[in-house]
Amino acid sequence: MRLSRVLVTGGAGFIGSNFVRRLLSADPQVSVITFDALTYAGNLANLDALPDPSRHSFIRGDICDEELVINVIREHRVDTIVNFAAETHVDRSIFDAAPFLRTNVMGVHHLLEAARKVWLREWGWGPDRCRFHHISSDEVYGSLEPHEPPFREDTPYAPNSPYAASKAAADHLVRSYGVTHGMPVTITNCSNNYGRFQFPEKLVPLMILNALEGVPLPIYGDGRQVRDWLHVEDHVAAVHLVLRKGSVGESYNIGGGGNHTNLEVVETLCRLLDKVAPDSPHAPHRALIQFVSDRPGHDRRYAMDTHKIERELGWSGRRTLEDGLQGTIEWYLANAGWVAEIRSRPDYQEWLDRNYASREVGT
Ligand code: NAD
Ligand code: DAU
Repeated sequence: MRLSRVLVTGGAGFIGSNFVRRLLSADPQVSVITFDALTYAGNLANLDALPDPSRHSFIRGDICDEELVINVIREHRVDTIVNFAAETHVDRSIFDAAPFLRTNVMGVHHLLEAARKVWLREWGWGPDRCRFHHISSDEVYGSLEPHEPPFREDTPYAPNSPYAASKAAADHLVRSYGVTHGMPVTITNCSNNYGRFQFPEKLVPLMILNALEGVPLPIYGDGRQVRDWLHVEDHVAAVHLVLRKGSVGESYNIGGGGNHTNLEVVETLCRLLDKVAPDSPHAPHRALIQFVSDRPGHDRRYAMDTHKIERELGWSGRRTLEDGLQGTIEWYLANAGWVAEIRSRPDYQEWLDRNYASREVGT
């Protein structure tokens, strides 16, 4: 499909803002409208210094506000919606699932309805004119045993956290709009992302910032949970490819290819930090590792089978974890102002206390 006017919902967050940059730099004919509620995870600073900003506009809004979304689609003649908007942190979904159901399920419903009312009913557009692309997660597939093969697109859904359940519900809803209403939908399910602009509640940035400050590095349980780490720029390139070449009605898995335990990731970060920040008073940073009580319902292993997107769309070229983490550390070191602004927020400190203060420390 030829993209023209792309509405990126959740585009002020981590992956969404990287996707906005990708579109503006790689697709000279598109204009991009970022639509974001600016929750604690959304940040206008993520959209600073965009390439070719004259082709970008920002609208503050909630995807649950169907009337507003309808007006935006009409006014901007939107032909493509890429939905990144979500509540995304598994630990927060354990404390309170309600915002996850609201945004991740009902919000997606309202987005689909807005697109259906304008594209399909009002304008009578067919699949050659518009596309609804939804960003989902590997977590919808549940947890793998050590001997089980990686998740494929036809692996049955078995979500284990309230977050994952909300994402699974959204995927089903998106698919159903394709089958029932003829909405031209595609879905991508990706693994754990890391890279620039990631909110420091997630493992990689949290560990980098704690280590630089000399604060303990809290590893849940035994740290042997395996994740399929994916650099965010490789992810957004894959989403872009699916928009251009993917088949309507299909879903595609996107993964990083390197499967590592959380402990390995944190040890690698510590080794790289020792190298990148040799004068740090906290080196060797590995000494800061601390095992703490586990996340309830913690999935043991994720791994993605990415043959479909490679075979059908020609996706290739992913960064190694080592290179990707080194670049990420350098970005956080070079963007001290971005980090300091988030760390100065009372609600961020409250979250850290809420999630970590009562965890038991092990060995
Ligand atoms: P994020 O938490 O960094 O950003 C989410 C963005 O959505 C924020 O800008 C926030 O303000 C916005 N938002 C939240 N509720 C909204 C609402 N009701 N209306 C409008 N905007 C709203 O998330 P992320 O890590 O960039 O994740 C983006 C998408 O990718 C999500 O759908 C997530 O489920 C999915 N995903 C993320 C990862 C990962 O590793 N980060 C992996 C797999 C899938
Ligand atoms: O797998 C894709 C998912 O990846 C996305 O769908 C989610 O939106 C995204 O948040 C991410 O979820 P995770 O729960 O995997 O990410 P998080 O960074 O919170 O945790 C990664 C792993 O590290 C997980 O096994 C839990 C562990 N962990 C995390 C934190 C924050 C720790 O051991 N200690 C920590 O302090």
